[in-house]
Amino acid sequence: MSDILRRGRLAEAADKEVTMFTSSMDTDKWIFEADIAVDLAHTVMLKEQGIIKSNDCSDILEGLLAIKEMGIENLDHTYEDIHISLESKLIDLVGENVGGRMHSGRSRNDEVATCIRFVLRDEMLGIMDDLLKLRKTLLKTAGENVETIMPGFTHLQHAQPTTLAHHLLAHADALSRDFKRAADAFSRVNLSPLGAAAFASTGFSIERTRTCEFLGFDGLVENSMDAVSSRDFLIESAGVFANIMVNLSRMAEESVIWSTSEFNFIELNDIYASTSSIMPQKKNPDTAELIRGKSGSVIGSLMSILSICKALPLSYNRDLQEATPNIWLSVETTRAAIRMMEGMIKTMKVNSDVMASQSVNGFTTATELADTLVRSTGIPFRTAHQIVGVLARGSGEPTLGEIDAVAYNVIGESLSARGLTEEKVCEALDAKSNIKKRVVPGGPAPEEVKRSLKNRMNLLEEDEQAIKKLNTKICGSIKKLLEVVDRCIKDSGNK
Ligand code: ARG
Repeated sequence: MSDILRRGRLAEAADKEVTMFTSSMDTDKWIFEADIAVDLAHTVMLKEQGIIKSNDCSDILEGLLAIKEMGIENLDHTYEDIHISLESKLIDLVGENVGGRMHSGRSRNDEVATCIRFVLRDEMLGIMDDLLKLRKTLLKTAGENVETIMPGFTHLQHAQPTTLAHHLLAHADALSRDFKRAADAFSRVNLSPLGAAAFASTGFSIERTRTCEFLGFDGLVENSMDAVSSRDFLIESAGVFANIMVNLSRMAEESVIWSTSEFNFIELNDIYASTSSIMPQKKNPDTAELIRGKSGSVIGSLMSILSICKALPLSYNRDLQEATPNIWLSVETTRAAIRMMEGMIKTMKVNSDVMASQSVNGFTTATELADTLVRSTGIPFRTAHQIVGVLARGSGEPTLGEIDAVAYNVIGESLSARGLTEEKVCEALDAKSNIKKRVVPGGPAPEEVKRSLKNRMNLLEEDEQAIKKLNTKICGSIKKLLEVVDRCIKDSGNK
């Protein structure tokens, strides 16, 4: 048997269908390059520790670089995973006496956990960058719509007037929490399990901190059992993605509703729309619908990972392999959805006239009228609530005379006698002055929204710098690793 893994212990050759069932080769395309980086770092460390000879080290390094160049398509896909397939290719290239030394002091268990973390941290930074762009677009669109009056909703019923800027800022704030959650998850993803080997570490005098540093990790997953068997970093990351998708799904739902003929608040750009194969007039918001739909798949990925990891005894179990595809599916879907939403918002047409004309529909100024009754006449809010509630049964906005008539029925006196004027009523029923009054922190008054926008722009810049710093650190480590690899190869050639 030529299979470098099975030839010792197992007498039977691999069965095709069983291999298909147990193999992770398809999903491992995500970690091919990571595996090469992990192999390079481990090999250099083995040499530095005197575990393998310099010449063997440089041959292995050259072999690994050649395999990277060849690409994953040139690996033997009948192996059960990328790690063993890559090692077998290396042995083909440089011989077993050399290539067969690479796996000293290591197991696929610490290797795969390292590879997943290596790729996931980059995806996490990518998602943070995608989120930044979406937040920026939301803030920019909000900035252009500080005075765009619209009805705000509760229970999807017209509630009180607000502005589009205030509404968009709400979504931007939710996404900035998603950003923070991603950054927090990153700090637990970017840790190195390498050197844990199968679970009990190794008797070779390896230097875990050296490979950790080479690969740009911020520290170790120290306990070697925990290092190979824990996937809470996947659960946490998938949770972050699911939360993002829930937020995007809510925005998508609004895009769908707002672009109906009934609402007509916005028109989405044609590139985000589809049409009907039978109804020629249709312009359907399919992209928004699919963001909403795909949120279900991402939530599903989180559920899958949770269910797979539940009740696994320590340490490594092959079940863990089944969790991995879910993280790639969820991160890929979430990143694409963020980009779609960003484009949709950037290119949508806002029908501000429609929004404005709808802003007072459904007596949205009723709360302000009740507040005005309280402030002008000193009656309790609950009493004012009752008076305006009775008025709301009628159609249209009430006049001072109508208010007085109802007040007389409720409290036995007219409110104009207590200081309510035509002018105050008029002001209360005006959407614009409603909004202008709401200056408390986080309220929709244009001056408050402008303050808020400025503050959010500053936070965004801070977040931008934070990602840059993390990216620079990782890139610096990988660059250094490749330089060391290069030097190892050159030094041995000089001998
Ligand atoms: N393909 C495996 C995974 O994704 C790699 C580790 C295999 N380890 C083992 N002992 N079979 O988990």
